[in-house]
Amino acid sequence: MKAVLVTSFGSLEGIQLAETARPVPKDDEVLIRVHYAGVNYPDVLIVKGLYQFRPELPFSPGGEVAGVVAEAGQSVTHFRIGSRVVAANGWGGFAEYLCVPATNCFELPATVPLREASVLLETYATACHALKDRAQIRSGERLLVVGAAGGTGVAAIQLGKLLGAEVIAAASTDEKLEVCQQAGADHLINYEAEGVKEKLRDFGGIDVVFDPVGGRFSETAFRSLRPGGRHLVVGFASGQIPSIPWNLPLLKSASIVGVFWGGFWRQYPMKNRENVAQLIKWMEEGKIKPELRGTYFPEEVSAALRKLDSRESLGKSCVDFTGSYR
Ligand SMILES: NC(=O)c1ccc[n+]([C@@H]2O[C@H](COP(=O)([O-])OP(=O)(O)OC[C@H]3O[C@@H](n4cnc5c(N)ncnc54)[C@H](OP(=O)(O)O)[C@@H]3O)[C@@H](O)[C@H]2O)c1
Repeated sequence: MKAVLVTSFGSLEGIQLAETARPVPKDDEVLIRVHYAGVNYPDVLIVKGLYQFRPELPFSPGGEVAGVVAEAGQSVTHFRIGSRVVAANGWGGFAEYLCVPATNCFELPATVPLREASVLLETYATACHALKDRAQIRSGERLLVVGAAGGTGVAAIQLGKLLGAEVIAAASTDEKLEVCQQAGADHLINYEAEGVKEKLRDFGGIDVVFDPVGGRFSETAFRSLRPGGRHLVVGFASGQIPSIPWNLPLLKSASIVGVFWGGFWRQYPMKNRENVAQLIKWMEEGKIKPELRGTYFPEEVSAALRKLDSRESLGKSCVDFTGSYR
């Protein structure tokens, strides 16, 4: 089979398309014929050797896929050959075939396109866990999304609206803000061109901040919180982990709330399954719609990851393994 391989950690340039053996599923696994693989920021970090785990070399990156079950292990009861599924497995998805534990798979209705579903898990499930389980956001609350034109950002805008919030999207360019508007944001802030502090003050206070960026705007965003506000720490795409004065949560009566979707999934698999089932239903009903702005061929994975790494990416992108590239 064809697979995108990393042979040494560090450079996004060193990724290559190669021929490797098709994996064989263990008893509790399914073999998925990958149709589309979502491209996510953690893929960049894994290739660079900067993520929470380091797969054994050589490996294929690619943390989530959508495809069709091609084989099922003996103890797998929920899926059969031909089942349409999404799955997340950390890495291995940038390949024609991937083996995953059946517990990592979620069945898709026939009407949900595999291309759109390939970007459902890492970003939407993270944003869902963040807003619903960690912030316990309520209808009518005001949500500020930072890095709002990125993968988790767009998901947070759409889910924030579905959960009844008023959504302010903040991003670095007007082109990115256009993506946020498409995604349904009520208000837009260009944080490279406008006085963010003043703009946020004009809104009269924020209830929840969704922050996958870190860096220099985090403290400004935290300071805009009303009493009872929650600042969701989702990630550090800026490469900077902010240090906020320890007295600020006290003075603001506001909370810094950590979000770790992978840990939540491991600890509460049934709750995660409920969240994903809801997301699939919303996708089927057309209530969430990924801003898919790029589809790459397998030999272009390095370019796709470089785009994310250089802050040029808009919305989401995926890799097409259907074979249309031959
Ligand atoms: N906690 C969890 O469970 C969890 C789950 C999934 C992802 N994450 C993390 O969340 C973060 C964001 O993921 P994502 O999918 O939203 O990524 P993304 O699609 O790349 O979006 C990140 C946004 O960050 C902003 N940014 C600011 N400085 C940047 C820089 N130097 N390089 C790249 N982007 C920069 C960009 O927006 P502007 O240009 O508008 O500033 C970009 O759109 C990552 O760190 C990822 O590892 C965490």
